[in-house]
Amino acid sequence: MAIYNLGSINADFFYRVPHLPAAGETLAATSVLRGLGGKGTNMSVAAARAAARTIHIGAVGEDGKWAVERLLEYGVDTRHIATLPETPTGHAIINVDDAGENAIVLLPGANHVISEAAIGSALSEASPGDTLLIQNETNNQAYAAEMAKQLDLFTACAAAPFEAEAMQAVLPYTDILFLNAVEAAQFEQATGQAPPDLPVSQVIVTKGSQGCSLYDNGSGEIRHFPALPVTPVDTTGAGDTFTGYVLAALDRGMPMPQAIALATRASALMVTRHGTADVIPDLKEVQDASF
Ligand code: RIB
Repeated sequence: MAIYNLGSINADFFYRVPHLPAAGETLAATSVLRGLGGKGTNMSVAAARAAARTIHIGAVGEDGKWAVERLLEYGVDTRHIATLPETPTGHAIINVDDAGENAIVLLPGANHVISEAAIGSALSEASPGDTLLIQNETNNQAYAAEMAKQLDLFTACAAAPFEAEAMQAVLPYTDILFLNAVEAAQFEQATGQAPPDLPVSQVIVTKGSQGCSLYDNGSGEIRHFPALPVTPVDTTGAGDTFTGYVLAALDRGMPMPQAIALATRASALMVTRHGTADVIPDLKEVQDASF
């Protein structure tokens, strides 16, 4: 089985700041680091590190060859990443404060110029039962999700960053939806629908140090899973790591509670590290970690 991920590819610029800047404030950063990121990329790397065959569908500019090479080094199939002339690779300015919280500004760049033809060409290689994963940092998610349903793929959607209209367009094709607590509240405010009301078989709401809740909307069952006790230094990419690990575990045939338990370990390790795709733990580290 395989995971096809229509996802963003960003250069992440991490600025370490004493606190997140307020409107109008000028603040000196104490350090800056460049790494590989993007919600899509982080999920692809997490899925590959969790031992799933992972095919990334996306785009970079001419300045993004390093990002594609790094994805390949991390075990992701990069054949369906286009290099577009005259379009910059996406990038993110990430401020991280002393408590590990972040605030992100994004330039989508090539992430918003992914063609229907490129998506079609990638998905034409998929087999029934493979997974399509989408988030909201690219264009053409609804096109990909509709095609995935026609091809009998399992469709997973991470509602980040939250956009009500984009979410409404993909929900009819979504089998499993990942939201964090803020996105779940935004969704409810925009549509009046709480997680148990959504027309999706399974919804996972992540709540940081409070763990996560699984809403099985077929049976009506709601299960809570606790988080692990760690001291976070940087929460950036932890949700992406969780999503990639859950989907990789499901793709490898694990039942959902075990998949969530594994992903909880991976994201707990992730928040103890600075960075995004470059520091996502591999399966052995996740299995061996003692909490
Ligand atoms: O979720 C973290 C990601 O959000 C970062 O890697 C950054 O690129 C932004 O997309």
